[in-house]
Amino acid sequence: MTNLPPNPANPGSNLAITVIGLGYVGLVTAACLAEWGHRVTGVDADDTRLTALRRGSSPFHEPGLESLVQSMIRAGRLRLASQAAEAVRDADIVFVAVGTHDGNGGWQTKTMLGCLKAVVPHLREGAVVVIRSTLPPDFVAQVGDIVAELRRGDDGQVSLLLNPEFTQEGKALDDFRSPSRVVLGVASDHDGRGQELLVAMYRAAKAPVIVMSAVEACLAKLGSNLFLATKITFANEMAALCDAFGGMIDPVVGAIGLDPRVAPSFLGAGVGFGGSCLPNQVAMISRIAESGGVATPLFAAVDEINHRQRNRFVDLIAEMLDGRLRDSRIALMGLAFKPDTDDIRDAPSIAIARSLIDAGADVAAFDPMPAARAAASQALPFLFVADSVEEALRGADAVALVTEWPELVNLDWTRVRALVRRPVVIDGRNALDQGTVLRAGYRYAAFGRGRHTPVAAFIEPSSEVVRTAITANTDVGDLETSLPGH
Ligand code: UGA
Repeated sequence: MTNLPPNPANPGSNLAITVIGLGYVGLVTAACLAEWGHRVTGVDADDTRLTALRRGSSPFHEPGLESLVQSMIRAGRLRLASQAAEAVRDADIVFVAVGTHDGNGGWQTKTMLGCLKAVVPHLREGAVVVIRSTLPPDFVAQVGDIVAELRRGDDGQVSLLLNPEFTQEGKALDDFRSPSRVVLGVASDHDGRGQELLVAMYRAAKAPVIVMSAVEACLAKLGSNLFLATKITFANEMAALCDAFGGMIDPVVGAIGLDPRVAPSFLGAGVGFGGSCLPNQVAMISRIAESGGVATPLFAAVDEINHRQRNRFVDLIAEMLDGRLRDSRIALMGLAFKPDTDDIRDAPSIAIARSLIDAGADVAAFDPMPAARAAASQALPFLFVADSVEEALRGADAVALVTEWPELVNLDWTRVRALVRRPVVIDGRNALDQGTVLRAGYRYAAFGRGRHTPVAAFIEPSSEVVRTAITANTDVGDLETSLPGH
């Protein structure tokens, strides 16, 4: 690789960095570090993945990532390799971003251990190893000793730090380029050089860098996700109270979220959280806590309530079809666990489709992402996955929205009326403008929004801020300035 001059915008640049594991976390890290001006080598054991990347195609959908990877490879800042031992020899910093899921809702540390064994003996003295993957706290407590053991003899010491990512799928590049904070957890750093180098490297992010112990960094990472999961679950419980006592959830969470101590985001009621991070980590933390001799009933409840939301949604569909799911046709709108991704890992859509099929319904699903459609077909062979939204809607007895893709939320509901058999909409994300749907002649149900028939008088909320938030289903905080008195 050519030795590039430091990027003038970032004088701390031009480090030799190797990133091991070009999955979601690793590829984003490698591409963004190259963009900051470093000489990055991305390593992956999967040759098919490397070939695809060299041809310019990303293994998953993430806005902006494919073109960033292409331009960094073209600029000579990002190189791809399959042999980790060789690729780490001259590295100043080695990021490790290998998978830690066991595929059964648990953690596995075998891949991480194998990777450390393969690379640590080959590092030059003073190199810094940075673990980017999410790991359980019991493993993190030992990892400093494991690495020290791998450096016996005259090899000289290396530093080991954790640098957990706070990347949201669909916003990964922005989250890396402008993070709200950077967390560094020190596992072993005999002369402080590791910490110093990483702090200098992250100056480009212009964000607070918080240095702590490795276990603390691990808990800060898990804690962030646990808090978000708890917040969503709280909104779901409030939605249940609204339904029980006849209120609308939107102004309720709107009011709660405007308190700066709370903040408006992640208060969206619906079918609950999915994805590869939140559900797994909520479930796993309870098990890990038990092995550490502590009880975490809050997280156990979050896990239970989140799963209950998926069942509630199926019950809501049944209720709107007068209790009859058998032989009814449901158009399931959205398969990815959230918009702007093709990821269906622990997506609520799959559990919901399975329950509907088990209850005897015919389910026709659609997602704008072809990769999400293909993965769903594989996961659920009895699911009919339509190639177009029209095909999924045709002849439906109920339209069930599970992922709030803008193209699904903004369907022309009057035109959709001509496709469906019965005008029934169940909004699993509280994402639709219910006034529009009701005016188009549908019966409508969601979480904490009551049950409405087309003829029922829909009273528009009087406050502009809440009305707009309901329509856009967005953070009320963004609209704060439109409130009188601001
Ligand atoms: C999450 C965290 O947000 C990231 O900060 C973290 O880095 C990442 O996990 C990780 O550990 O790697 P992600 O899994 O991409 O990111 O998804 P989120 O945007 O957090 O959404 C999770 C789920 O919550 C989605 O199914 C979403 O639909 C749901 N959600 C979100 C709600 O049900 N209600 C809301 O108000 C917000």
